[in-house]
Amino acid sequence: MLKNVARDVSLPALILDVHAFDDNCKKIAEMANGKSIRIATKSIRSVPVLKRVFQSNSIFKGLMCFSPNEAIFLAEKGFDDILLGYPCWDEGALIQIAQFNGNGTQITCMVDSSEHIDHLKEIAEKVNGMFYLCIDVDMSTKFGSLHFGVRRSPLKNEEDVIQLALKIKQSPRIKLLGIMGYEAQIAGVGDKMPAQHLKNPVIAFMKRKSITEIKVRRKTIVQALEREGLQLAFVNGGGTGSLDSTSKEEIVTELTAGSGFYSPLLFDYYRNFRLKPSLFFALPVVRKPAPNIYTCLGGGYVSSGPHGKEKVPQPVYPSGGKLLPFEGAGEVQTPVYYEKEALEIGDAIIFRAAKAGEICERFNEIVCLADQQIVDRYHTYRGEGKCFL
Ligand SMILES: Cc1ncc(COP(=O)(O)O)c(C=O)c1O
Repeated sequence: MLKNVARDVSLPALILDVHAFDDNCKKIAEMANGKSIRIATKSIRSVPVLKRVFQSNSIFKGLMCFSPNEAIFLAEKGFDDILLGYPCWDEGALIQIAQFNGNGTQITCMVDSSEHIDHLKEIAEKVNGMFYLCIDVDMSTKFGSLHFGVRRSPLKNEEDVIQLALKIKQSPRIKLLGIMGYEAQIAGVGDKMPAQHLKNPVIAFMKRKSITEIKVRRKTIVQALEREGLQLAFVNGGGTGSLDSTSKEEIVTELTAGSGFYSPLLFDYYRNFRLKPSLFFALPVVRKPAPNIYTCLGGGYVSSGPHGKEKVPQPVYPSGGKLLPFEGAGEVQTPVYYEKEALEIGDAIIFRAAKAGEICERFNEIVCLADQQIVDRYHTYRGEGKCFL
């Protein structure tokens, strides 16, 4: 489907294989085990793409946003049931959210501390608005001195959560709706990584142990809240990489997924599922500095997180391409080595990024292809003039 891209599309371009994308929507819906799925917008970063996911299956309900201004932007576009996945402090944006909520939209803010609650309470009182809240619970696991998971919420057990929930209950202007626990060590860590043959089984073992532990933790917390008379509207958990295990937890009412729809490079390396790569970028070959080396314009779209080779985009079509160790994916020039391929200046080389949503910050639009044809063009957030983080 990507063969004639250089002929039809002006390069560099971000490209969505809509058949692969739609297949991923279907597969992810099947993996949910009947629970609803909230879409992680950070991993999508395009309004028409979000709409496409919702249209694919009614199992997709609600959004998990990454910034308060993004939540407002999406609420203005008509999306409802928006959960901010991370705490925020921006008073201007929070005032708008408090007022939106007072007028019937539901934007839920994430909290994990007394400071967050006091801040939101003061804002709600000041503007006569209200906040819906979700408590973020730490889902990391300890293996001796090793911290397996991310550093986000300080709330580790039912006592921590109840203390905060009771504080929320004291104010009529803030209302607790749910709890969220993101098991990053399951959802965001591959256990089939290339060149990690010794480490992979260790990671898989730690994941299995951690899955058992967090299942108990989540259940204990929800039951303790219920004993205090605190009923939750939702219990959110997981990400694409943990759909398999989080969906099996009875206590979880909804899952979150984002990256799986585009299925970037890092999602090739999980043992328990396989989705189809659907998002690519195409760069034009603009020079041939030596036999077998084709230098493209653009390409340095390295993904976030701990630095390593696995964060670098890779050429995937024509197959057999390799980045040069000395240059990698360069800021404006990316040489690719092919032993066999004979490319011309003006041809396209197709790449995949390591992570899902970040690449959308580099392009204004996503060119949608099906059966070698351009079938649509979708704006990214950037294409709508928006930059949220
Ligand atoms: C709070 C939270 N939930 C869920 C996810 C899962 O997102 P994805 O499916 O894109 O991996 C993330 C990703 O970082 C997250 O931070």
